[in-house]
Amino acid sequence: MTTARRERPAETGTPIIEVRAISKIYAGGVEALNDISLEVPRGKLTTLLGPSGCGKTTLLKIIAGLIPATSGEVLVSGRPVTGPGPDRAFVFQDFALMPWASVLRNVAFGLELRGVSRSERDEVARRHIAEVGLAGFEDRHPHELSGGMRQRVGLARALAVDADVLLMDEPFSSVDEQTRRKFQEDMLGLLSAHGKTVLFVTHSIEEAVYLSDRIVLLSRRPSRVAQVIEPEIRRGDDPEAIRRHPAYLDTVETIWQGLKRYLD
Ligand SMILES: Nc1ncnc2c1ncn2[C@@H]1O[C@H](COP(=O)(O)OP(=O)(O)O)[C@@H](O)[C@H]1O
Ligand SMILES: [Mg+2]
Repeated sequence: MTTARRERPAETGTPIIEVRAISKIYAGGVEALNDISLEVPRGKLTTLLGPSGCGKTTLLKIIAGLIPATSGEVLVSGRPVTGPGPDRAFVFQDFALMPWASVLRNVAFGLELRGVSRSERDEVARRHIAEVGLAGFEDRHPHELSGGMRQRVGLARALAVDADVLLMDEPFSSVDEQTRRKFQEDMLGLLSAHGKTVLFVTHSIEEAVYLSDRIVLLSRRPSRVAQVIEPEIRRGDDPEAIRRHPAYLDTVETIWQGLKRYLD
């Protein structure tokens, strides 16, 4: 009998990102991360939650391959991260849109970098622009859009490159409360329709519990994993009902108690 290794099936829930003992000390001596290990399950939404300045953006950038870790390694689909790759798309806090380019060009930009033909990338971009509710705005420029609309452009751009993993750094922090709620609902629907894996960063407990299958609680800097919580809320139901779910309020309270401990 042979013991040939079989490819692991790409099932929902198997880890797609493995963070192994990552530490980061910036030049100048700021110790941002201290021995972080965590797994991000495929097809789920995992949130990094922690106080401002604890190192959330640093960890996301290391996973994206935008900056190196001081020690430790990150694997994506079993392969070590050595730089940015088409399997990961970054959605920035400040949208990071090109101000001189139209919505269409911004959304198509990742495909343009990959040398996809004009007609094909415009077709793909138009589809995703419609999907995030911006049909009709293809020719506008970022300064003509509200913050919420700009964030939708950022999401459409990430969807257009069809990366397996979306790394989202506080995407709702600069939009107002109503816009945020509407976008949270829309995003949940979209991401589950596409079967994307999302690693999401926030400092809002409510946002984390509303969106996440798994919440990784980070301590104050230098950040360590304080606790991992999986809210017992079934996704795919009415998104309106999530905030009324008893487990929603329980989890918010549990996290607050946990964070308080690590804030002292
Ligand atoms: N390029 C950098 N050089 C030096 N220190 C940095 C740099 N980027 C971030 N830091 C510091 O590292 C710590 C973590 O920052 P960051 O990852 O942005 O935290 P968060 O996203 O959780 O608010 C902070 O103290 C921040 O000032
Ligand atoms: Mg940050």
